Amino acid sequence: MDLKLKGKSVIVMAASKGLGKASAMEFAREGARVLISSRSEEELAKTAEEIKKETGNNQVEYIVCDVKKAEDIQNMVQKAVDWNGTVDVLINNAGGPPAGTFEDFDDEAWQHAFELNLLSFIRSIRAVLPYMKKQKKGHIVNIASSSIKQSLNNLLLSNTLRPGIAGLSKSLSQELAPDNIMINTIGPGRIETDRIMELNRKKAEEQGVSVDQIKSLTEQEIPAGRSGDPAEFAKTIVFFGSGANTYITGQSLVVDGGLVKAL
Ligand SMILES: NC(=O)c1ccc[n+]([C@@H]2O[C@H](COP(=O)([O-])OP(=O)(O)OC[C@H]3O[C@@H](n4cnc5c(N)ncnc54)[C@H](OP(=O)(O)O)[C@@H]3O)[C@@H](O)[C@H]2O)c1
Repeated sequence: MDLKLKGKSVIVMAASKGLGKASAMEFAREGARVLISSRSEEELAKTAEEIKKETGNNQVEYIVCDVKKAEDIQNMVQKAVDWNGTVDVLINNAGGPPAGTFEDFDDEAWQHAFELNLLSFIRSIRAVLPYMKKQKKGHIVNIASSSIKQSLNNLLLSNTLRPGIAGLSKSLSQELAPDNIMINTIGPGRIETDRIMELNRKKAEEQGVSVDQIKSLTEQEIPAGRSGDPAEFAKTIVFFGSGANTYITGQSLVVDGGLVKAL
């Protein structure tokens, strides 16, 4: 299938590692011009080189962007526009909020999570829309969590804020479809990245067992019998963000090996 991504201007946020990096890798493999961002210049430089080397596509740039900073988001979008004249695809992503239950979080923690996991998406969407509207075409894909469908134990901030991304995305799909802009939300479930390993490590510490034991117990809950690989998750992101997706918008989909039981 031709994904029609050759030469397209793609931004992948929070992409120095994990799901963002894997998505950027697949966009580069498809011949897109990929701008990656995160907070660490050093990690971004390494990741950009790795993507170039692995895909043979040298059209990979990076810019430091803390998704909590409005100015950084503006600068990131401006860099893509200066480089490519427009933005065809925006992959919204951010670091995960801390684990915990209701009594663990004060106003400051809630505000932090709102800025990290919801306001950042609102800001980046606002920044790219003028370019997408002008060309009457665009794709926005939000990386959220399986908590868009089913609450996760001990992840109250995620359970509260990720459904907000799905709601935002559904509403925007109605407003943006006349301009041929597709927006969708993808929820990863147990895709093996540093984030998941860190959550496993915390759980192991709390329960006084080994990380391997936690990993094996959590994998028993997944009908597929294993954690997902970032590269297989990225394929879904790339399809939803590609020119092959001409009619799917406003959807919330989990990529989780069958973990979520909700419809
Ligand atoms: N993996 C899963 O199965 C899973 C499940 C549910 C939800 N999620 C969510 O999916 C998202 C990506 O997860 P992941 O597994 O890829 O995590 P990860 O491996 O920990 O990677 C997180 C990425 O986010 C960047 N980042 C963190 N804070 C940032 C900030 N303020 N501004 C810009 N970039 C920032 C990090 O780079 P720097 O440190 O360089 O900034 C890194 O590149 C997270 O929100 C996570 O909670 C993942």
